[in-house]
Amino acid sequence: MSAAGAGHGKVILLGEHVVVYGHPALAAGLAQGAHAQVEAARATSFQVEPWGVDISLDTEQDDPDRELLRRALRALLAGWPQATRAQPLRIRAEVAIPAGAGLGGSAALGVAVARAVDRFFDTQHADQAIADAVFPWEKVFHGNPSGVDNTLAAFGGVALFQKGQPLQMGRMRRSLKLVVGHSGEAASTKTTVANVARQRERDPEKVEQIFEAVASLVRNAALAVEDGRLEHLGELMDLNQQLLGSLMLSTPRLEELCAAARNAGAYGAKLTGGGGGGCMIALVDEERGDPVLRALEDQGSQAFLTEVGP
Ligand code: MEV
Repeated sequence: MSAAGAGHGKVILLGEHVVVYGHPALAAGLAQGAHAQVEAARATSFQVEPWGVDISLDTEQDDPDRELLRRALRALLAGWPQATRAQPLRIRAEVAIPAGAGLGGSAALGVAVARAVDRFFDTQHADQAIADAVFPWEKVFHGNPSGVDNTLAAFGGVALFQKGQPLQMGRMRRSLKLVVGHSGEAASTKTTVANVARQRERDPEKVEQIFEAVASLVRNAALAVEDGRLEHLGELMDLNQQLLGSLMLSTPRLEELCAAARNAGAYGAKLTGGGGGGCMIALVDEERGDPVLRALEDQGSQAFLTEVGP
C-alpha cells in the first residue's frame, strides 16, 4: 500500500519578519509546491528530487544540509510514532520550487510528507493539524519561524496569519495575479531573521516603530485584497518594500528587479519571504502580466506568472 500528499509553496504579500514578532502577515499559497509518496519498507528512507537526496533516518549524515533534513524528518515523524516504531516508510518527494528562494520550499515539502504519512496511517488530520505537525520540521531549518510558511503550505488560498490566532482566510472578489522573479541570490531565512533580531536588540524603539508601520500596511492590504483594489494594494507593497529596505533586508539586485517590474507597469513590487536575496513579487493584472514577466526576464531573472486566490 502507498499514499501520496502535496503541499503548497507560498508568497508573503506583506508582513514578512514582523510576523515573527506576533504581528499579522498577508500570505498566499502557490499552486506550485511539493509532492510526496510513502510506502511500507524495512527501514525509513527519504529521497528528494531534484536535490538528488537519498538518506536513511537512522544514519547520521556527513553533509550538514542532509543531516538537517534527517533531523527535520525525525522531528516531523515524531507526530506519527507508529512510523518510527512499528512501520518504517520509504518516502519519496519532489519539490517544484527553488530552495532558499523565500517561497516556502521546506514547508511545502514538510506538508507533502506529513499529508502522505497521515493518509498512509489514516490518521485523518485536518489542515491545521498538518500545519502543526510540520512546525517542528520548520524549526529545524529556520530556528525561530513564525509558522506562516507551514500554515499556508497546508491551507493554500490567501490569508491573514498571526501567531497563535486562527488563520483568517481572505474573502476576495477576484484572484490576484503575481509575477515572481528570482534574484539569483541564495538567501537564508534563518540568517535574516537573526539579523533582524540583532537590530531589535540594539534599537528596540526604532525597530518596533517599523514593525508597527508594516503591521498597519498589512491590515490595509487585507482590506484592499477583499475589495479588489489593486492600485492601492500595489502602493502598500511598495511601502512595505521601503520598510524592509530600512531593516537591511533588500539587496541592490532585488531593488533592480522591483524597479524593472514597476517600470513595466506592475501595481507594486517587493521582496517576498526572508529577503537578503531570494525572490521578489510584482502585482499585475491580465494586461500587465506579460510585459512585467518579460521585463524581469530581460534582467536575467528566472520569473513566472502565477495566480493566487480563493
Ligand atoms: C519566511 O517565509 C518569512 C519570515 O517572516 C520568517 C517567518 O515568518 O518564519 C521572514
